[in-house]
Amino acid sequence: MSIERFPHSAKEESFEFAPEVRAEFDRIVEKYPVKRSALIPALQLAQKQNGYISSAVMQHVAGIFDISAMDVWGVVSFYSMLKTHPIGEYHFQLCSNLSCNLLGSGALLRRIEERLGIRAGETRADGKFSLERVECLGACGGGPCVQINVDYFECATPEMIDGIISALEKGEYVPPVGADEVAPPPAAAAEAAAAGDGTANVAGKAEG
Ligand code: FES
Repeated sequence: MSIERFPHSAKEESFEFAPEVRAEFDRIVEKYPVKRSALIPALQLAQKQNGYISSAVMQHVAGIFDISAMDVWGVVSFYSMLKTHPIGEYHFQLCSNLSCNLLGSGALLRRIEERLGIRAGETRADGKFSLERVECLGACGGGPCVQINVDYFECATPEMIDGIISALEKGEYVPPVGADEVAPPPAAAAEAAAAGDGTANVAGKAEG
């Protein structure tokens, strides 16, 4: 396990909220009785504007909340949804925790790396795709699970991944896939169970 350090760059860029982003933040912060509770939404807005959370972003956000940049870093380093380096237009997060691992996330990782031409932790040279392995995405019943930007793709298979990447390469929208949409109908699952085929359920999902 690697420990992420407070990000510094030799030639630090400057950052401040764009006027329309600042206006959105001002609207959001009004909903919170304690201003500091709006720290995560503020960081999400900053990430949306800047692409990732740099040290300049943390300094700016710290100034807004009148806290130290290290306080901000404490939050940024905890949440994997907050990125400290540039990511692709389509950011793949593949769960590699136990449930997903047992259901085939290893094969998915190999297929995604092969299709995108990058390894986990990397961003493709054209900036279109990036990939990382993450811990539990909270969709253990629908493993293996891949999150692409904000959308979940549950019970994912290498074939499903092929279709998704081909569509995204062409700039097409790909709707999220929930476990319920790819699970076999109850009758088929019961039939498979009666036949003693322990893999039928997973295979059925995969083919869905
Ligand atoms: S183990 Fe993969 S979503 Fe929980």
